[in-house]
Amino acid sequence: MKDRSLSRRNFILTGAAIGALPLVGAPMIARGAAAPHVLPPLPYADNALAPVISAQTIGFHYGKHHKTYLDNLNKLVDGTPMAEMTLEQVIKASAGAADKAGLFNNAAQVWNHTFYWNGLRPNGGGAPGKELATRIEKDFGSLEAMRKEIFTAATTQFGSGWAWLVEEGGKMKVVKTGNAENPLTRGMKPLMTIDVWEHAYYLDFQNRRADYVNALLDKLVNWEFVAANLAR
Ligand SMILES: [Fe+2]
Repeated sequence: MKDRSLSRRNFILTGAAIGALPLVGAPMIARGAAAPHVLPPLPYADNALAPVISAQTIGFHYGKHHKTYLDNLNKLVDGTPMAEMTLEQVIKASAGAADKAGLFNNAAQVWNHTFYWNGLRPNGGGAPGKELATRIEKDFGSLEAMRKEIFTAATTQFGSGWAWLVEEGGKMKVVKTGNAENPLTRGMKPLMTIDVWEHAYYLDFQNRRADYVNALLDKLVNWEFVAANLAR
């Protein structure tokens, strides 16, 4: 298999804005020389999101869950035509195919988690920049109205899944997806996401998903990431 470990190709294709972000204090995970897809480093130190998301949660969530999805993906594509596809191509090619459910789930979870990590930052939350704030007011009426929609989506997603801020048809909106589902497969442009699988918050908040969502929205949302995705 072709060695792409030194290429940023797969990394960049997990979202144009993701590849452009500065990587600060990123813990490195060994990149398999033969693997077509690599685990992007976190754009911050593993304790940078504490106390909302602890280093312990990052250790399991990024170091175990995210990495396992990636390892599974690489095993599943190895020796198949999908080994030559980008991550987004694998997601779109496997979406809805009953015989490719495992492939889709692992590929989408790799993408979703990379997108989730990059949508967070230390000292985030608060008010978005002026241009984004104006756009939010236009599409939602107010920042508070948008926040309420995201909170509702994140807290009412039954079981495992994701709450997303997306753009569709030139308008920002909020959607929620179950398990590994990703708005890319519905033709939407993801802007940010909140992981509401229990592994995202249980060590820090136990069953209190609403507290996790509120804390994340208040303190960790990376509005610059949202704006960059909106602009691309
Ligand atoms: Fe997760």
